[in-house]
Amino acid sequence: MALLAELTHRCPLQCPYCSNPLNLEKVAGEMRTDEWLRALREAADLGCMQVHFSGGEPTVRTDLEELVAGATEAGLYTNLITSGVLLDEARLARLVAAGLEHVHLSFQDAEVPGGDRIGGYRGGHEKKIAVAAMVRAAGLPLTANFVVHRQNVDRLEAMLDLAVEIGAHRAEIANVQYYGWALKNRAALMPTRAQLDHMTEIVTAARERLKGVLVIDYVVPDYYAQRPKSCMGGWGRRFLNISPSGKVLPCHAAETITNMEFDSVRQRSLADIWANSSAFNRFRGTDWMPEPCRSCDRKEIDWGGCRCQAFAITGDAARTDPACGLSVDHGLLVDAAVSESAADREEFVYRRYGAAAKEPVKA
Ligand code: SF4
Ligand code: FES
Repeated sequence: MALLAELTHRCPLQCPYCSNPLNLEKVAGEMRTDEWLRALREAADLGCMQVHFSGGEPTVRTDLEELVAGATEAGLYTNLITSGVLLDEARLARLVAAGLEHVHLSFQDAEVPGGDRIGGYRGGHEKKIAVAAMVRAAGLPLTANFVVHRQNVDRLEAMLDLAVEIGAHRAEIANVQYYGWALKNRAALMPTRAQLDHMTEIVTAARERLKGVLVIDYVVPDYYAQRPKSCMGGWGRRFLNISPSGKVLPCHAAETITNMEFDSVRQRSLADIWANSSAFNRFRGTDWMPEPCRSCDRKEIDWGGCRCQAFAITGDAARTDPACGLSVDHGLLVDAAVSESAADREEFVYRRYGAAAKEPVKA
């Protein structure tokens, strides 16, 4: 079991596909150090093996070293999911001394113009390359994460080259998943079917060529799928997320399901929320499933797909994931993919506090 600890929604970058909710939590509501330390101990007691420190940008929190040390003491494997732009050698050394075991560094593109434009942060791309060198010099394993979409997919080969150059052990090539900010920017991000096919060819060839050098994880876009992914490995089965203010979520995007309520670890123990909360039990297992999932032989393989996507597309999180070709809503997804991948839109609505209602802007 894994815990995603979203320490803050503050972030110097403004990626238009951010998985954080449109209503970003403010600093005043963030959990204190002692509250996070208790939550980390409770996560370990519950059976979590690893914690991914994320955000927003987790290095914004000045107590990150203390939290890494607390997690390590609780027996959790620690991973830092970061944009890297706020890290320097001294901070990284303190994190390593606290027990940090892995760094997951996000890139917005393979080169400066695209990277800085998509992230909305000038100088970010070069800083990330410097941080990658620091991470390797510190002896930590490194995953390079590239979120791909229509505006950077032509540089996929260069992304894989970059991952090798910086000494990453693993590259994560993740197509945008369309909830929250990404849903808002879907018409500027959706790749065409031809781009997706080309992407898959490049990844397949690179996996062969880079065997023993680079492991490549590849997340395809649901919009062109026939069967859905097993999102979160099934709702409430092996993943939990704690938001900056302590809300415990079965999925990092669960707050996009606006008609659900989530309990806080400030008020109830993690074990109690995991076992008894209405949010975790709502879509756990198979009893909640409608047809065609209920009588489908894949229901314990993909668990009916993604609840956030069902809500985003149909307004009802309890429907079969429209990514499934057997869903009566599948056409909605296909139509959106075809029309929006052909859209003539490059501008983004950048992820910022208070920007949820804004119109797209150029960087
Ligand atoms: Fe999965 Fe439901 Fe589609 Fe079957 S019908 S493949 S269980 S989403
Ligand atoms: Fe939330 Fe799939 S992203 S269940």
